[in-house]
Amino acid sequence: MSSAAPAPGPANSGPANAAPANPEAIFTYGAPQLKFGPGASDEIGFDLSQYGVRRALIVTDPGVAATGIPQRIADQMAQFGIEARVFGGVRVEPTDESMNAAVDQARASGPWDAFVAVGGGSSIDTAKAVNLLLTNPGGLMDYVNAPVGRARAPVHPLKPLIAVPTTTGTGAESTTVCVLDVLALRVKTGISHTRLRPTLAVVDPLLTLTQPAGVTASAGMDILCHALESYTARWYTRAEHKRPGQRVPYCGANPISDMWSEKAMALLATSFRRAVGHGDDHQARADMAMAATFAGMGFGNAGVHIPHANAYPIAGRVSGFHPKDYPADEAMVPHGMSVALTAPEAFRFTFDAAPERHLRAAQLLAPGAERPPDDAEFLPRVLTGLMREIGIPNGVAAVGYSSGDIPALVEGTLKQQRLLASCPKPVTGDDLGGIFERSLELW
Ligand SMILES: NC(=O)c1ccc[n+]([C@@H]2O[C@H](COP(=O)([O-])OP(=O)(O)OC[C@H]3O[C@@H](n4cnc5c(N)ncnc54)[C@H](O)[C@@H]3O)[C@@H](O)[C@H]2O)c1
Ligand SMILES: [Fe+2]
Repeated sequence: MSSAAPAPGPANSGPANAAPANPEAIFTYGAPQLKFGPGASDEIGFDLSQYGVRRALIVTDPGVAATGIPQRIADQMAQFGIEARVFGGVRVEPTDESMNAAVDQARASGPWDAFVAVGGGSSIDTAKAVNLLLTNPGGLMDYVNAPVGRARAPVHPLKPLIAVPTTTGTGAESTTVCVLDVLALRVKTGISHTRLRPTLAVVDPLLTLTQPAGVTASAGMDILCHALESYTARWYTRAEHKRPGQRVPYCGANPISDMWSEKAMALLATSFRRAVGHGDDHQARADMAMAATFAGMGFGNAGVHIPHANAYPIAGRVSGFHPKDYPADEAMVPHGMSVALTAPEAFRFTFDAAPERHLRAAQLLAPGAERPPDDAEFLPRVLTGLMREIGIPNGVAAVGYSSGDIPALVEGTLKQQRLLASCPKPVTGDDLGGIFERSLELW
């Protein structure tokens, strides 16, 4: 690199993670094949025929099934001589129980040559679990991250999985991750392995036109936090050097993930409010789909940190909160909302580990916004302003938590060490308690 090139890593003028004795020099990048654009989902039958598939299972949830999209995709497969069945029983915000039920049903109606996930992260993650357990020995908890599960690696390759997102949010179509709620432990956790990454991501913005406003708002906050957390994650050279077998999908912020995250934030700045307020705006929907894809490719390699780690217990310990535009039968804090609720305070906490990045992110998200006298306030202010406008609840108290719940929430966050490892500065239980306390009410 010439001496004129900008320094690649974040300026660590604050209490960043201590410099490692033997710094990492390598970062990694993985992504599925991608087909993007209006009408892309009309080609899935052809795409599957290229893999020699004869029988494919479409995995979706009841809300998406009601739009008719999964059946349309099944009909199109028939034109290529592929027998398709729709499994419409995915639970929104899946649990170990709902995933095991999906696995049992898929096994009973199998064998399957391929899987097609049509829906948001809930459907895509359930399809990943079905694919894993129909191709590999053991049960779900064998593969769930430690310490909750046994963190085994799959020993056999999985079947082709085509992921077709109908929300603009999770990026699950590009990632190696499958998220679930373990009911007995009241904890959300996940499975993470490169073999879980879908074979092909088909991102068709036309499928998102029916996404309700409340889902667009929550899923959009997920995009925003993916971009922000991967952009501010610990720079990859600030970790200890790993042996090849120790490499994990989340390697820390790096020059390639930075590119995706910055582009995602610029797209959100122009499209997010429009997509929530005017769901029929095709350009806004297409830009949101692009932002979700970009952010997925960024965080899927760099990693996420405090807001996502906090989201797990916020979603896992909920009782009595029923958000608008989500299935009314179960209490839930949807993923994007649970991530957003502590994000302003989390970024106030991480500001001094990489001030330039926090400021640049605020400028990308709100070009033209006035910079407050205290730089650390800029990003939290941009975030709370946006959250108020699009109808995200005012803090964790608004979804049912009080000060007395904070020790249990902190305990749940501390279990997410895989994510906290990406934090740009050391974070203790007391730090997390403070973040939760200040996030009870945000404005
Ligand atoms: N695997 C990953 O990398 C990853 C990343 C982030 C989040 N997640 C997980 O993804 C899940 C959340 O996924 P999500 O936010 O995409 O939403 P979702 O899949 O939970 O769906 C939310 C609601 O929107 C409805 N819906 C979806 N698309 C629609 C459409 N086009 N028209 C009408 N209704 C539609 C669904 O029926 C459902 O009721 C959580 O379980 C979360 O933990 C996974
Ligand atoms: Fe997320």
